[in-house]
Amino acid sequence: GNEMITVENNKLKIDGFDVSELAEQHGTPLYVMSESQIVKNFTRYTEAFKEYSEKTGKEFIVSYAYKANSNLAVLKILTNLGCGADVVSGGELYTAKMVSVDSSKIVFNGNCKLEEEIIMGIETNIRAFNVDSISELELINEVAGKLGKVANVAFRINPNVNPKTHPKISTGLKSNKFGLDVEAGIALKAIKMAKEMKNVKIVGIHCHIGSQLTDISPFVEETKKVMDFVVSLKEQGIKIEDVNIGGGLGVPYDKNTEIPVQKDLANAVINTMLEYADKVELPNLIIEPGRSLVATAGVLLGKVHHIKETPSAKWIMIDAGMNDMMRPAIYEAYHEITPCTIRDEKEVVNIAGGLCESSDVFGKERELPKIEVKDTIAILDVGAYGISMANNYNARGISKMILTSEDGAYTIRERETYADLLSKDIIPPKYL
Ligand code: LLP
Repeated sequence: GNEMITVENNKLKIDGFDVSELAEQHGTPLYVMSESQIVKNFTRYTEAFKEYSEKTGKEFIVSYAYKANSNLAVLKILTNLGCGADVVSGGELYTAKMVSVDSSKIVFNGNCKLEEEIIMGIETNIRAFNVDSISELELINEVAGKLGKVANVAFRINPNVNPKTHPKISTGLKSNKFGLDVEAGIALKAIKMAKEMKNVKIVGIHCHIGSQLTDISPFVEETKKVMDFVVSLKEQGIKIEDVNIGGGLGVPYDKNTEIPVQKDLANAVINTMLEYADKVELPNLIIEPGRSLVATAGVLLGKVHHIKETPSAKWIMIDAGMNDMMRPAIYEAYHEITPCTIRDEKEVVNIAGGLCESSDVFGKERELPKIEVKDTIAILDVGAYGISMANNYNARGISKMILTSEDGAYTIRERETYADLLSKDIIPPKYL
């Protein structure tokens, strides 16, 4: 949950800072990230999976999925704790280098890697490209050959496991675009091809079945499919050093339902892995969580500018909008919303942003403490896939972001200005 949030004298606090005051000081919309919560979320993974290294003598690596939130300060917190990087673009790899992530903890994902990205990855000496197709394997071999190097490759398999999550964030089903099909023999074919290639080294098997999983059983099914495959490869004389089971652990967006946590995932995965100990030398274990490291650490603040009543509802209009946080608009995602001044009286309201789209609504029919104009509203659990998916629609700048920590509140991203919005546009001289 959001352990950094407390309520004192009917005022919402984050890491002890009065949230309305932060909004006043820094302006809105405003993203707030909590250092303490990020540290807690990360430490829970390393604590929970420690047992794997203890029992097997193998490495356990957390490669944080940068797509969830790649703010440099957030990344520095994680890097300093020993966290690695799961990158999906040249931009993310560049970012990982900027925060000096240990290259042996960088993995490169994606189903359409570009030649220039492959060059960057090889030159950075990353732990593995998670290969998504035979075409990509061939390109990696060719590029590595030109550079006179050997590229580390892991194979992203499509295990055909139903993650039981939102269809738009399911990835490990046969019908999804990702991975090399195991059942149809394509994964094996790719690996056999790789074995004959001069400029790639087979290091691992990778898998990622989806995001916001609220049930552990698909992870167990996934791990079994991966390990069965690893065993079958051993029988063919191919040794797998790394197994990467991807990310996907969900967070409790809805505070009324309890969902599995890091420890539950670790117990299930470790037990499943250990079942294979007599069949094959167990591999290093890599995971790529994004959401479960940062989602609960982030809050988006908006200020109420107008309140209006229509025949169907009472609408609270705030200055944060769907360009700041797309999840409700594109996935109908539920996020807890609370005013930062908590009055006794309650009412049922809709909370909306100010963009010209009917989907720019953060919450419908929410029973909340009474809200007034000028109040600050907090949207919770937006630390993942919040600012990283933000955009400039309706010519709105990306919001400012601050970090609350024990020794103070820091600005970790400046607000985009009107001039920033136009800085890349060019008018051909003939119009001037
Ligand atoms: N590894 C791979 C290969 C992935 O594709 C993803 C997420 C992750 C790791 C991290 O998954 P996580 O631990 O965060 O669930 N925009 C969507 C989520 C898209 C996830 C894409 N891939 C949302 O806001 O719900």
